[in-house]
Amino acid sequence: MKIKRSGSLRGKLTVPGDKSISHRAVMFGAIAEGTTTVRGFLKSADCLSTIGCFRRMGISIEESAEAGSAVLRIHGKGLRGLKKPDGALDAGNSGTTTRLLAGILAGQPFEAAIVGDASLSRRPMSRVSEPLTAMGAKLRSTEGHLPMTIQGGSLHGISHESRVASAQVKSCIALAGLYAEGITRITEPSLSRNHTELMLSAFGADISTEYGRGILERASLLREEKHYLWSAVKDQPIAEIDPVTGRNLTDPLHGRTAPSAGPRPTCVVRPGKELHALDITVPGDISSAAYFLAAANLVPGSELFLTNVGMNPTRTGLLSVLEAMGGRYTPENLRLMGGEPVSDLRVSFAKLHGTYIGGPLIPTLIDELPVIAVMAAYAEGETIIRDAKELRVKESDRLARIVENLRALGVGVEEVPDGMAIQGNGGKPFKGAVIDPHGDHRLAMAFAVAGLASDEGIAIRDEGCVAVSYPAFFADLAAVGAELSA
Ligand code: S3P
Repeated sequence: MKIKRSGSLRGKLTVPGDKSISHRAVMFGAIAEGTTTVRGFLKSADCLSTIGCFRRMGISIEESAEAGSAVLRIHGKGLRGLKKPDGALDAGNSGTTTRLLAGILAGQPFEAAIVGDASLSRRPMSRVSEPLTAMGAKLRSTEGHLPMTIQGGSLHGISHESRVASAQVKSCIALAGLYAEGITRITEPSLSRNHTELMLSAFGADISTEYGRGILERASLLREEKHYLWSAVKDQPIAEIDPVTGRNLTDPLHGRTAPSAGPRPTCVVRPGKELHALDITVPGDISSAAYFLAAANLVPGSELFLTNVGMNPTRTGLLSVLEAMGGRYTPENLRLMGGEPVSDLRVSFAKLHGTYIGGPLIPTLIDELPVIAVMAAYAEGETIIRDAKELRVKESDRLARIVENLRALGVGVEEVPDGMAIQGNGGKPFKGAVIDPHGDHRLAMAFAVAGLASDEGIAIRDEGCVAVSYPAFFADLAAVGAELSA
């Protein structure tokens, strides 16, 4: 697929459902009592892997469509209703499927194996196998990698200090905690996406977030007269969103000061509650909207209207960065959708300048860093990305691949162990190049966006990998006016 400089991008787009929320809706629906209905489900390869795994464990999942979007009906069998699969569970390319599933399997009275594709089989699993072993499960893996066999059993709660702010690790241990004797606590260096806490709590689980000084309250969304105060604790909001501008007022990047570490959050799970079926509407995925936010900021004269974009503050770091770079976006109609904040976003072209990105902001934009790097490469001045070592263990070594591919476009970039320094070209067109995304969907989409700022054009090899999270990506890009050729 080849993408080159196009006329201005215009139009309205509804990006597909959130991947993290779609996975969780299937998994939690499967272990809840009754039928869970999921509207706006993301029908991508990763989420289909999750469906496949639960079908193999005896869960009936019906698929239909309403107004052009996928609807699932998941016939849950309760916490202890899964059956032993008759073969290995195939997680495909999906880290979220693997790690969250491992937490659920740790509580089952049977043995099951998880396998995945070549990329997933290179990703570290000891970050989940070690805590699950400490809880009493028996795991066998190949030097901390898939295939991984899990013999569940009687678990006991643990207090786990995670070295990384990872929602997959937190969710894995929290799910095992539902089956454990006693309380399970997971402390992370800073808050990772909290969809598990919000959704499990809505399903009826006793799950909450504790901050430093030991104040406990169920994670909740409180609508206040002036602001949405999205808080885990009464007197310590994690994020305060201005409903007029949509700005995350508590974001460390405001004022561009170096972010400091705040109190460390602890996710606390108390077992003993059954889960009950829910009706869930999945918001649009801000990680998918990211490509269009970037595209509009790269192509002069562009104006896009993105509807139903998830605005959970543990996911909106990209908007803070865009703002710090001088980008333009206007949130409209901020509202709640299934317990998650959602907004429409109007985004238009702006000349961007460099910024600093690091600290607790990183987990809130971890999947957006490839496309942020592309925006930084086109901006005026230097952008520094630090504290992003986790990018090395994603679907590919994203730090190495971003650096290699930006250089192919003629951009000056220096790689460091946990990030990079990008010398923005100040709006000079990128050189033409052929980009190999190494099967990594986010690299394919980020560099397709870079093509919009190249006169010679950028060809993406094996572009089909976008199906992992956004099967209609190229169709949507063409629909807003991008010039694509096979
Ligand atoms: C995800 C968590 C993040 C993210 C991934 C989805 C989730 O991974 O990169 O795409 O749904 O929990 P980590 O938890 O490994 O940071």
